[in-house]
Amino acid sequence: MAADQEINAGDIKKDFPIFKIKMSGKPIVYLDSAATSQKPKQVIDSIVKFYSEYNANIHRGIYDIAERATDEYTNSKGKLAKLIGAKSIRNIVYVRNTTEAINLVALSWGNANIEKGDHILISDMEHHSNLVPWQLLAKRKGAVLDYIKLDKSSEKLDMDSFKENLENDPKMVAVTQASNVLGTINDVKYITKEAKKHGSVVLVDGAQSAPHMPVDVQSIGCDFFALSAHKMLGPTGIGALYGTEEILNSMEPLFGGGDMISAVTRQTHSWNSLPWKFEAGTSNIEGGIAFGAAIDYLNSIGMEKIRRHEEKLTKHALESLENVKNIEVYGPKKDEINIKSGVVSFGIKGVHPHDVAQIFNNEGIAIRAGHHCAMPLVTEVLRQGAVSRMSFYLYNDEDDIDKAVAAIDEVKRIFKLE
Ligand SMILES: Cc1ncc(COP(=O)(O)O)c(C=O)c1O
Repeated sequence: MAADQEINAGDIKKDFPIFKIKMSGKPIVYLDSAATSQKPKQVIDSIVKFYSEYNANIHRGIYDIAERATDEYTNSKGKLAKLIGAKSIRNIVYVRNTTEAINLVALSWGNANIEKGDHILISDMEHHSNLVPWQLLAKRKGAVLDYIKLDKSSEKLDMDSFKENLENDPKMVAVTQASNVLGTINDVKYITKEAKKHGSVVLVDGAQSAPHMPVDVQSIGCDFFALSAHKMLGPTGIGALYGTEEILNSMEPLFGGGDMISAVTRQTHSWNSLPWKFEAGTSNIEGGIAFGAAIDYLNSIGMEKIRRHEEKLTKHALESLENVKNIEVYGPKKDEINIKSGVVSFGIKGVHPHDVAQIFNNEGIAIRAGHHCAMPLVTEVLRQGAVSRMSFYLYNDEDDIDKAVAAIDEVKRIFKLE
């Protein structure tokens, strides 16, 4: 695809076998990529190829297929490092997912650095993954967990609240780059810059940003960045923690065992170099390799182009919903598309989001309904029990959105709403 061309979602869909299936007897319309993305055949094939052609353990054998497996796994880290602007693979620790990446930081860095009375600062728009590990750490250590509030619109972080909280000199500031409910894109570069003035360590939750837009961890300046492969065309069970060498070198591994050591005696051991000291035991080799194939696929399109495509889809969705009666749309609107990702959450007056999702299912459309693992945001800030959410990716087109808007009409017809 030439660099100046727009994404042709119809062509892209052909690479994804799932789009051949039907749901409720209709071609599937998949609008739940914020939960997990679909996988192109290139990624699926890479798993089959690994098991059929070079299945062997990594970092052990010196025979051809073992060396190939090691190379492919290591190359995948190189691809990820390049994708997110990390200096080298030493910055890339493979884990199971974003949740594990953040827990690794809270347990390893947190246990060593957080003391009684210290402040940890997160925000009111965090996913439970970037909330519960800090609650657990605060409880273990007697630390204080503070929250950056949302502004009056309940769409964005309130920068006054951020600045006020910084006065406590939080040891850790952990925020999401993009909200999985509101779609808000936070200015994590600015947040990092300000937090650093107060000596904070900064973790960015990149689960909803890395799959959808160009990311440059060095330009952001954060100490840690967490992401999941399954949300960016890769398989489940693999994700990454980016950390600066300085901070990763200062941390103890969470798990001991094979591969994470350089030498062991009866009483002592020394750690392997980065990033391997954090990867004890046999890795998710197929996952790492398939993640590499997913990054190749994303690069073949280009992250800028993916972001532009999603902006276009999101704008179309927001415009289509603008004049629909009895519907509330959460998060930034079309005039702030520059800070809005491809996530559109909404509520239909008097209709439970689970009923909405069920009616969408009858139309062959997959959306998510619930608290989206962000209960403080959904229940305390938005004051909803649950919300419905559509989320877009490179394989969606305006037709998918038009079908979703028609499904909203169907919900309103069934519930006799205007
Ligand atoms: C913003 C955000 N952070 C973290 C996560 C957790 O990702 P995982 O379940 O892959 O660990 C999600 C998942 O939806 C998310 O949206």
